[in-house]
Amino acid sequence: MVQPTKNGVKGKTKNSSQTQQTTPQAASGQKTGAAKATPPASHKAGTRKNGYKPLASMEEYEAVAKKALEDPEGYWGERAKSLLHWFKPWEKTLSYDFNEPRVEWFAGGKLNASYNCIDRHVEGPRRNKVALIWQGDPEDDVRIWTYQMLYDRVCRCASALKNIGVRKGDRVVLYLPMIPEAVVVMLACARIGAVHVFVFAGFSAASAQSRIQDCEAKVVITADGMFRAGRVMPLKANIDEALKDCPTVRRVIVVNRTNMSTSMKERRDIWWRDLMADRSLNARLPAVPMDAEDLLFILYTSGSTGKPKGVMHTTGGYLTYAAHTTQAIFDTREEDVHWCTADVGWITGHTYALYGPLLLGGTTVLFEGGPRWPDPDRYWQIIEKFRVNTFYTAPTAIRILIREGDEWLERSDRSSLRLLGSVGEPIDPETWHWYRDKVGDGNIPLVDTWWQTETGGIMISPLPFTTPLKPGSATKPLPGIDVSVVREDGKPAKVNEEGHLVINKPWPGMLRGIFGDPAKFKENYFSRFPGRYLSGDGVRMDEDGYLWLLGRLDDVINVSGHRFSTAEMEAAFNAHPSVAESSVVGMAHPVKGEVIYAFVQLNADEKATESIRSELRKWVRREIGPIASPEYIQFTEGLPKTRSGKIMRRVLRKIVSGQIDELGDLTTLSNPDVIDSLVEEYERLVGMSSMR
Ligand code: WTA
Repeated sequence: MVQPTKNGVKGKTKNSSQTQQTTPQAASGQKTGAAKATPPASHKAGTRKNGYKPLASMEEYEAVAKKALEDPEGYWGERAKSLLHWFKPWEKTLSYDFNEPRVEWFAGGKLNASYNCIDRHVEGPRRNKVALIWQGDPEDDVRIWTYQMLYDRVCRCASALKNIGVRKGDRVVLYLPMIPEAVVVMLACARIGAVHVFVFAGFSAASAQSRIQDCEAKVVITADGMFRAGRVMPLKANIDEALKDCPTVRRVIVVNRTNMSTSMKERRDIWWRDLMADRSLNARLPAVPMDAEDLLFILYTSGSTGKPKGVMHTTGGYLTYAAHTTQAIFDTREEDVHWCTADVGWITGHTYALYGPLLLGGTTVLFEGGPRWPDPDRYWQIIEKFRVNTFYTAPTAIRILIREGDEWLERSDRSSLRLLGSVGEPIDPETWHWYRDKVGDGNIPLVDTWWQTETGGIMISPLPFTTPLKPGSATKPLPGIDVSVVREDGKPAKVNEEGHLVINKPWPGMLRGIFGDPAKFKENYFSRFPGRYLSGDGVRMDEDGYLWLLGRLDDVINVSGHRFSTAEMEAAFNAHPSVAESSVVGMAHPVKGEVIYAFVQLNADEKATESIRSELRKWVRREIGPIASPEYIQFTEGLPKTRSGKIMRRVLRKIVSGQIDELGDLTTLSNPDVIDSLVEEYERLVGMSSMR
């Protein structure tokens, strides 16, 4: 049986219709049973105005899923054709080989992402429809742009990028807060065939540097600073630091967001407003026809090694998948206001704040701030303010808000909500119920959606009003998605047996590779179980075919829905002059899902003091970014090692999950005597902090 490494998640069930202990937070005595919401009159099965026909029943789901697996080319070909505008039809729908690996969708077809997100709407009755509603961190900062307004800005920006020498295939790094300029730049890049590479603004200068170097960016776009919960934080200064060693970068464009004093380097740096003020810019710049398999963007994500991977997504397949999943899972209506709270710099923001909604001609809300500022009802106020219909967020945000108390909810009118979504980590039944029953009215669908940066879009999710829900389960794969649960030896796992989640067949939204590293692409995803895509997640399938995601099986930690590799964290600790060695594991946490727990061995002449602990915490935040703050740093005289000198993380994971009596076979340890002191210090540290 596969050992889940995360969360100490267990939970064998005999009766799948009961609420599962999917995470440690799941209290016993939860409401049970598969819940099926009653569709309101507004949800009539049958064809939508936009041509989409939701599946009416599970029988229909089974039939469509069967057909889609038998004839993927027919199924996805129809989706690509009906959802996107193609300048030229493709010649071959699919060709692939998971052993090489190589995947191509819609080869020979020509299209453009920016054209599909904007131009075709501007040409029709949607031209004055609202495309973007942007809510700044300060309440009065609101910008509302129609499709026409977005079109003008994107064309001008694309034209400006061309003027400064950006060409098809060039990489443009965005290190920006959640401001509408981010959307403009992404679509402007796509318009001229440049590749956008978003580096989340919560990453440090060092993290930005390694990503800029890896993708050999020509241009970086940043802001002077950013707002966060009423405070101002510098961004441009990080880029100056990062660019000390990035010879490929020729120009830096700086958006003035906060009016903070900012140093500009002559001939390299240019203010956004100056760039865009040029009257000769072409506000009608035509979109360049791109091959379906041309690169649309790169997004870095953590894998099990120390170096982040540049996940590559191409144009035709990604767009098809973004539009299709948005339509099927959010059941997008013409009049909808859709709000995905994820930062546009993450894959969730790429696909469900930007590309998905705009491809469908929808209205998308972007929010610069966080859920608790100035008060913990900010999300609910925004839902009321813009009458949001479909709301998509992460369990960690919901858990933070549960703690603030129900009275914050009661001050807002959320009756506009028609659908709720969850993403990023397993949602435990307790949180699920609060979200659905309190945030919603207990009757609207809650879609728990499983996917990854690599998959481009949602893979496993209920279809609203079609799939009966089980709190804590992401339910079933979408039609056309072929998943299996396998044991260590690749054989199929039994019902309710935990195993690896693998995907057997290609889908249009899948990654096409790791930038600059084809060997890693194969090794990471296609070598463990040859011929299949390895997700890295543990899962169990119950007797109704429902999937229960159990967290990562590799050395990736998921903190508040953000991925970190333990190796990357260890490298950061080890780079500190006082550290001899370190080992980092994930520890289950009631709000954040998991937190970073570091075991650190200092140099022999170094004393373990509180001041070095706080210095190390600051150090790691500086090395990786403020989002990577270790929750616990435990000092130790030694790390448990095998005779060949390998650190036995399994033992450390057991310790931080409190499974002290289940440390397993310790006979291969070269230093078994460290265990007692490790356990003792763990209990002191964690016990101490829980008393605070
Ligand atoms: C986890 C975010 C359980 C999972 C879209 C996956 C989930 C990783 C869920 C990808 C879910 C995401 N239930 N686990 N509904 N959604 N995950 O690349 O471990 O930032 O492998 O993509 O998040 O994180 P990433």
